[in-house]
Order: sequence, then C-alpha cells, then structure tokens
Amino acid sequence: MSRVVVVGSFNVDHVWNCASLPRRGETLSGHYHTGPGGKGFNQAVASARAGVETGFLCALGDDDGGRQARALAEADGIALRVHESLHPTGTAGIYVDEAGHNTIVIGAGANGDLSASWVSRQAQALAGARVLLSQLESPLDSVLEAMRLARAGGTTTMLNPAPANAQCLRELLAAADVLTPNETEFAALLERHTSHRIDSETIASTADAQLHKLCRTLLPRGTVVITLGAAGAFVSHREDLLRGDDTPFYRVAADKVQPVDTTGAGDAFNGALAAAYAQGQGRAFAEHVRFANRYAGLSTEQVGAAQAMPRLAVAG
Ligand code: RIB
Ligand code: NA
Repeated sequence: MSRVVVVGSFNVDHVWNCASLPRRGETLSGHYHTGPGGKGFNQAVASARAGVETGFLCALGDDDGGRQARALAEADGIALRVHESLHPTGTAGIYVDEAGHNTIVIGAGANGDLSASWVSRQAQALAGARVLLSQLESPLDSVLEAMRLARAGGTTTMLNPAPANAQCLRELLAAADVLTPNETEFAALLERHTSHRIDSETIASTADAQLHKLCRTLLPRGTVVITLGAAGAFVSHREDLLRGDDTPFYRVAADKVQPVDTTGAGDAFNGALAAAYAQGQGRAFAEHVRFANRYAGLSTEQVGAAQAMPRLAVAG
C-alpha cells in the first residue's frame, strides 16, 4: 500500500530554452528538448525519490507518451494506476528564459478523461494512504472525489491549487487538510473566495500576523503553506491542531541555489512535503517544510521537470 498517493496529470513536456520569453508576434529560436512532466507526475516522482512508497493515479493515451509514463513510473518504483484514454497523452509547451523563468501552455488530452467514476473505483488505495496529494490539472470533480474518499479513510489531504487560473471551488478548498498555493495562486484564491485582496508581489514582504489572518480566512479548518520561491515558504496552522513544537505561523527560509530551470520547482516542493509528512508523522511540521524547501531548491539546479527531481531521501 502506497504511503503517498498522487492523483493528477502526466504531460510530455516540449521545452525551448530562449534568451527571453517570446512576446506577441515574435519568432525566436531556442534550444529544444523534451521530457516527462505534468504537475501530478512531477509530484509523484519527487515523493518517490524522497524515498517514500508512492502511487500515481492518472489517465494516459495509447501512444508513445503513455508508454513513456509507464516505463518511467516503473523505473522510479511508482505504483501506477492508469485510466486508459482514447485521447492522446497530455502535452505541455514550455519556454524557459535565461533566468530560469518559464511560461507554459498545456494540451490536457488524456488528462481530461480522468473521471470521477474511475477515481471512485480507487477508493482502497486512497483510503489506505497516509497522504493524498492532488492539483488542479485534472477534472475538478475527480480531484474532489479523490479528496473525499481519502478523507473518509483518514488519509491527510494535500491540495496544490495549481495552475492559478483553474476554477478552484469552495468544496475543493474545504476538502483540503493542507493547501499549498504559490504567491499567484494565493492571491487568486483570496480574491475568489474571500472579501480580502492581496497583490501577489507583496506577499513575501507582508507581516506574518497579517498573512496568518488571511490564511485563516481562506482555510479556517486547515494548514496553508504559501511557497515564496527563493524566499522560502510561509506556514499558517489551524491553532487547535498544533502539535509538538509547531507555532501557529512561521516562515521557513530557502537554501541558496544556482537555478538553471525552475520548471517543476513547485511540484518538487509538494511531492517532498507529502513524502516527509507521510514518513515522519509526529515530527514538527516545520521540519517537513524545511525538507521540501531543500528538495525544491535542488530541483532547480537541474534541467527539466520530472527528470530534475533529486534523489534525496527524507529521514526515516
Ligand atoms: O509544474 C510544471 C509542469 O506544469 C510541467 O511539467 C508541465 O507539464 C505542466 O504541467
Ligand atoms: Na528543474
């Protein structure tokens, strides 16, 4: 039985490294490479390479991309459950500039066929895990179904509300024990679900007590971890659930890294956080966040998404 189960997308990433990101009407040339990605798969690979038994539930097409996903999952020891789709395996077109920043366009393909009824047949795997981790690159009713089944079985639910433009419904938020937005996603969620507003660019410099208040308003019944890129992460806990040496809110600094490609850094953080939490129950949550920060930092020093996940085991 997998300790971490990830429900989400697999994409074949087509990546162009350019001097700058293309602007409207512009034709650029860049260095091209392709490799495995998709937020779900990247997170599953991160969890597995952090040394924790990991399952991945996804939809794949009957094509090279689908066969690639199966082979890669096997190589990383990931227990794969596939909904076989008649559509082509998901794809992503990614431009990466010299500073390591990216822009992404997704072709959902098979990922769009991950149905709630198929997910409901995976109830045992979901209820038997310690952590369910999902994102918003799959049909939202299926993500919600996975979170409901997991919760019913006592599994901790983690939701990475990415990408930011996905329609993250209130029911989805309410089903999350741990929510892990980046700055853009946090600002978008606040705007959608509360009467508060924050400029994503100012989040890293907002006072901790103020951020905590906003997190409590957004997710009164769960923990919020806002990832701040090179500035690390901000954590806000529901106070009556605090354990050990957890304090209600705090920041965790990131390590200094030399990023070459930040694609999948958020996924690295999420997969590593799920793995650390599943493995080290009873340890302070801040320790898990520290591990996830370190793991994500290392992933930016390698090119690619899933391929960039470091082999760095969480303490047993
Ligand atoms: O988070 C990075 C991922 O987003 C890429 O691998 C791409 O496939 C998109 O899903
Ligand atoms: Na990377």
